Amino acid sequence: MARFDSKVAIVTGGGSGIGAEISRELAAEGASVVVTDINLDAAQRVVDEIVAAGGVASAFEQNTAKWEDSEAAVAFAQKNYGALHLAVNNAGIGAPAQTIGDYDIAAWDRVRAVDLDGVFYGLKFQLPAMVAAGGRAVVNMSSVLGSVGIAQNAAYVASKHALVGLTKVAALEYAAQGSRDSGGITVNGMSPSEARVKRSYGYVFQAPALYPWRTIEKNVALPLEIMGLADREARIKRSIDLVNLTGFEKKYPWQLSGGMQQRASIARALAFDADLLLMDEPFGALDEIVRDHLNSELLKLWARTEKTIAFVTHSIPEAVYLSTKIVVMSPRPGRVTDIIESDLPAERPLDIRETPEFLRLAARVRDGLRAGHSYEE
Ligand SMILES: NC(=O)c1ccc[n+]([C@@H]2O[C@H](COP(=O)([O-])OP(=O)(O)OC[C@H]3O[C@@H](n4cnc5c(N)ncnc54)[C@H](O)[C@@H]3O)[C@@H](O)[C@H]2O)c1
Repeated sequence: MARFDSKVAIVTGGGSGIGAEISRELAAEGASVVVTDINLDAAQRVVDEIVAAGGVASAFEQNTAKWEDSEAAVAFAQKNYGALHLAVNNAGIGAPAQTIGDYDIAAWDRVRAVDLDGVFYGLKFQLPAMVAAGGRAVVNMSSVLGSVGIAQNAAYVASKHALVGLTKVAALEYAAQGSRDSGGITVNGMSPSEARVKRSYGYVFQAPALYPWRTIEKNVALPLEIMGLADREARIKRSIDLVNLTGFEKKYPWQLSGGMQQRASIARALAFDADLLLMDEPFGALDEIVRDHLNSELLKLWARTEKTIAFVTHSIPEAVYLSTKIVVMSPRPGRVTDIIESDLPAERPLDIRETPEFLRLAARVRDGLRAGHSYEE
């Protein structure tokens, strides 16, 4: 069963960029998605893609800066799909680069109307509809500029900051109404800097970066000590278990092989239970056989923990073997040249790499890399 089967979602500004991608993902996870946008043609194109891929979606023309449109979007979701469970208030516009003394007042009003008022209008009609449907979740799209200021961007920075405050109020008012499956609503709006402070993501680098004077368990403990987390013993044991290093807790990094050291650094990233693991070429320096082994271990770990993992690699077979989605990037300038949804099964023995399906995906990745390569070196 997919994660959002029988759920109904609204995504504002779903006609392009982040909103379009969220719409596709929600539909792929089983939700019926109302893709709204001020540009109806753009929303319709995203809907056509979703429907062609077997999903359920409808386009709806909505200017989020008008409260009547937000009310109508919610009514449309309820009329077409019977309820509303999920809302992503994503529509947003940029602002002109002007200092405050020179700021164009019409531009200030325009940006605030979409980036702040639009989200309030959305919530005003979405939240009661979600309570009626038995709860679920709202995501408001802020920005790193929701917690950091930059010069010459007053309207956007102020609106995104205010949006963080609005999100906090919505969470206080609605999250307390029971669990999210029994009337409560999760209200999210985390910026990258908040995610960093809350350690919502863990890193694994190319080098294991373990302190040689600390044992494996003490290396795994380090982020927990820095964060002042309780139940350290249990967390250390669980994450060392997950990477199959039980029995090596008291060893020092230099007493372990390169592959085992890398597993210890994965355990360290798992110890504080981050939602997202960022892995930057973690197996690049290892020999082929150890790399094969760690690749299949990582797939098992992924199945056990259900963490989202963003994994950077220069190896085409590694990318195809590990991924559900492969984003192909060109060097200088770094641009996305292709996004490939993998249709390989979740169970992947190593010899899947010799199947025609695998080779077809690998060939497409290679084409994407070639298209973005300048061959200047
Ligand atoms: N792209 C980034 O790097 C980035 C960084 C931080 C935050 N964000 C935020 O993420 C959100 C999406 O950004 P994006 O880069 O995908 O933008 P985008 O410009 O690619 O897409 C925005 C979509 O919103 C639609 N839209 C604009 N005004 C609207 C309105 N009044 N009513 C309804 N739809 C409207 C546009 O037609 C467009 O389809 C925005 O809120 C943005 O502030 C983006």
